Amino acid sequence: METLKRSLVDLPPAFLDALRDAVGQQAVLTGEEDREHYGHDETEDLRFPPQVVVRPRTTAEVAAVVKLCAQHHIPITPIGGRTGLSGGALSVHGGVGLALDRMDRIIAIDERNLQVTVEPGVITQVLHEAVAAKGLYYAPDPSSKGSCTIGGNLAENAGGPRAVKYGVTRDFVLNLEVVLPDGEVIWTGANTLKNSTGYDLTRLIVGSEGTLGIITQAVLRLVPLPKETRLMLVPFREAAKACEAVSAVFRAGVVPSALEFMERDAIDWTLRHVPNIAVPVADDTQAHLLIEVDGQHADTLVRDCETILQVMEAHGCQEVLFAETSAEKDALWRMRRQVPEAVKSNSIYKEEDTVVPRYELPRLLQGIKDIGARYGFKSVCYGHAGDGNLHVNIIKGDLSDEAWTNELPRAIREIFHLTVSLGGTLSGEHGIGLVQRPYMDIAFNAVQLDLMRGLKRLFDPLGILNPGKVLP
Ligand code: LAC
Ligand code: ZN
Repeated sequence: METLKRSLVDLPPAFLDALRDAVGQQAVLTGEEDREHYGHDETEDLRFPPQVVVRPRTTAEVAAVVKLCAQHHIPITPIGGRTGLSGGALSVHGGVGLALDRMDRIIAIDERNLQVTVEPGVITQVLHEAVAAKGLYYAPDPSSKGSCTIGGNLAENAGGPRAVKYGVTRDFVLNLEVVLPDGEVIWTGANTLKNSTGYDLTRLIVGSEGTLGIITQAVLRLVPLPKETRLMLVPFREAAKACEAVSAVFRAGVVPSALEFMERDAIDWTLRHVPNIAVPVADDTQAHLLIEVDGQHADTLVRDCETILQVMEAHGCQEVLFAETSAEKDALWRMRRQVPEAVKSNSIYKEEDTVVPRYELPRLLQGIKDIGARYGFKSVCYGHAGDGNLHVNIIKGDLSDEAWTNELPRAIREIFHLTVSLGGTLSGEHGIGLVQRPYMDIAFNAVQLDLMRGLKRLFDPLGILNPGKVLP
């Protein structure tokens, strides 16, 4: 466990009293256990407890808390489901941890316009189920969907397997209610599918990782729930061939609803970690693609599957496993979603969220393996291959602490330089947060970073909102 040395602000008793007046005694937590609970997410083993946790229930309460923090120059870090992988929700500079978990209402499902209005604390899967009951679909589906929240998904612009067909969180957002760092409340846009009216504040706020404002309501777009799905697991003797097959699927005219890649270790570790899932894996299999198609009509999906199968065979796949029943589909998806947990339970690791144009995927994977060979680390790679988004898990294994701390950052820089040289960037869906911040200069030059710093200053001149994140 790691707790970096940090200088904390003084919380004047008058400030704490005013917080209690604003949100109620019960919603202001200063006990050690509560602060620890809200002091970590899923990023490595990092621990940054806030000095006080505040759990507001309404936009007005959020605005009151933010105004108090501005008055006293106290840092404020928004906290969602604490499943993030870049440290966005860590209270690096202490101060107030603003937990939005009590703002968890689905306010309205508009079936006429296919829209839903939610508060930030709604758990993503709860939203999925609520709209599915009305025959509607909210597609973004991070692996942590059972515990992550819409607010966190918006802050990090989360993705998940279905992004390849439907888009990431940002593509589902129509309008946001935001509390600005001075406590003013705005809506960013309109509840329309099209909008060419002024600067697009909605898209700016999504993915800004709680550094520009605090999202207190979101109007999200929905689509009709796909009635049919087909799912196949495709093994390959060579990981490179699996990666090459990915872009070929789209060129053959099919857009799958998921196209996931898993290296051999990702599957082996997961099958050991998750009870009650049996998937036969041949000794010489080195990688799998998990491919899903969805739609309203079974016959279209049959034709899509035939096309995909031809592409896979042309790339030398081994015997394809089709999930026949919904139980088999669930098992394969459960296996895929457990990969991050399985990796975490296996070793100390660092996760990178590289993304490249999808045709470059084979070059990205090979380049990562070459860098690993030079620095002496093993990596387990998996992720959303159809989006060119590869999660690179660097395994500590037998590396010395000295190599892990001092040499690894150089290797990670090499990985990011490779990613950018292939036309890609640092993060596809996990965000920059705390841990990727030192690498931002690889993706952006001084002019670009200054422009971003200017935006930050414009929104948050006091620098109180989620300090220490995104910008180097
Ligand atoms: C996943 C998470 C780690 O793809 O993004 O499982
Ligand atoms: Zn992912």
